[in-house]
Amino acid sequence: MTAAQLPAKGDTPETATPLLSVQDVHKRFHHNEVLKGISLDVAVGEVIAILGPSGSGKSTLLRCINHLEKIDAGRIYFRGALVGFREVNGKLKALPESEVALVRREMGMVFQRFNLFPHLTALGNVMEAPVQVLGRSKDAARETAVAMLTRVGLAAKLDAYPAQLSGGQQQRVAIARALAMNPALMMFDEATSALDPELVGEVLEVMRLLAAEGMTMLAVTHEMGFAREAAHRVVFMDEGVIQEEGTPEAFFGNPRTERARTFLRRVSK
Ligand SMILES: Nc1ncnc2c1ncn2[C@@H]1O[C@H](COP(=O)(O)OP(=O)(O)O)[C@@H](O)[C@H]1O
Ligand SMILES: [Mg+2]
Repeated sequence: MTAAQLPAKGDTPETATPLLSVQDVHKRFHHNEVLKGISLDVAVGEVIAILGPSGSGKSTLLRCINHLEKIDAGRIYFRGALVGFREVNGKLKALPESEVALVRREMGMVFQRFNLFPHLTALGNVMEAPVQVLGRSKDAARETAVAMLTRVGLAAKLDAYPAQLSGGQQQRVAIARALAMNPALMMFDEATSALDPELVGEVLEVMRLLAAEGMTMLAVTHEMGFAREAAHRVVFMDEGVIQEEGTPEAFFGNPRTERARTFLRRVSK
């Protein structure tokens, strides 16, 4: 795969302004404060692995970033604009869902469960949103879909239905589906956790490829090899707080907090 085949991203800021800026974000569910002041800047092209024990708020953070969850305090900026709100005289006003949807499109999301349409082929699944949401012509959407399925190594499976594909192949279709929207940011939430062990590698390989191609990525993962080798930065969350962040070398080689050491002992078993 060459850079020339990548979708154009002409309006991506090439400046030092972060693509994504999460500033002191708080999120509670009833009395349960799940995010207790999360701050994180993500540069264009940066690959961040988000690690942490179950229940630490990782999925909630991703869901707040694309405004599937509404934050209670703090700010989230994407491409320099507030996500989900407009600021008027220092007060936040919720944006209509139609405007939120415009931003959300630019953030690809890949979940544990791929949720492909069972009645559509791989090609059909990847064409669906560009046609329905972006109003692309079928021909243009097909061309992009073929390119994206080729990118994830599924050029030979364009006409296969999900039931005819392995879990790893289905997850790669899900990644191609997200890529077909030409996102500026890709978020992965334990994208390999539901897969049989022998299928994890092929999905990680696609994630590594995207990382190497310069895709900006936030990857919640339990795959320490991926975090160590593909991420520029590791963010370790526990109890709704970023406990530690740093290069993979620093984090894995010399974790500073007892929580991180305990976590690493557990996952290395
Ligand atoms: N929609 C929700 N309603 C109530 N509690 C929630 C909801 N989503 C997540 N939580 C709670 O928030 C905490 C963090 O969850 P989550 O973000 O899924 O953690 P992680 O992804 O790190 O495992 C958990 O205690 C979970 O039960
Ligand atoms: Mg989760």
